[in-house]
Amino acid sequence: MKHTLTIEYQEIEHWNLLPGDEIELVNEAFKIAKNAYAPYSKFHVGASLRMEDQSIIVGSNQENIAYPSGLCAERVALFHAGALYPEKKVAKLCVVAFGDLFDKDAWLTPCGGCRQVMAESESRQKKPIEILLVSQNNKVLKFHSVLDILPLAFGKFN
Ligand code: THU
Repeated sequence: MKHTLTIEYQEIEHWNLLPGDEIELVNEAFKIAKNAYAPYSKFHVGASLRMEDQSIIVGSNQENIAYPSGLCAERVALFHAGALYPEKKVAKLCVVAFGDLFDKDAWLTPCGGCRQVMAESESRQKKPIEILLVSQNNKVLKFHSVLDILPLAFGKFN
């Protein structure tokens, strides 16, 4: 049997065209990206979460001289939320970055490990998390759910 998966997502020319609550989320992500500890990659990543109660929780990447011991911004933000407010649901997750790791016109997309963690957050709260990815040229990709960027995720997600 042959199957085809289709995902729907939006491309937006500039993040300043987003609705006000999302512009605030992007601004918070840029602010926290400045707190990244990234002396090795010099790639500063900021992640912000809009919680269901409208509060915002943030995270930035934290590197370590023993490279695998560091953690990505998305996971710092999600674990920050899980540790402080385990009952609160995440409505939206936004990621921004700045640095020379790759071309300014390249899309900024989360690594596989972060996608897996996002998938578990979504499954745990039984409600989709909208994903906003802001590239360095200020363009945005917007997805309805984590499973749109990690189809067939490991776990009981179907
Ligand atoms: N990084 C993130 O914070 N999020 C991702 O989704 C991918 C990569 C961080 C890890 C490392 O500190 C730097 O970016 C370069 O890989």
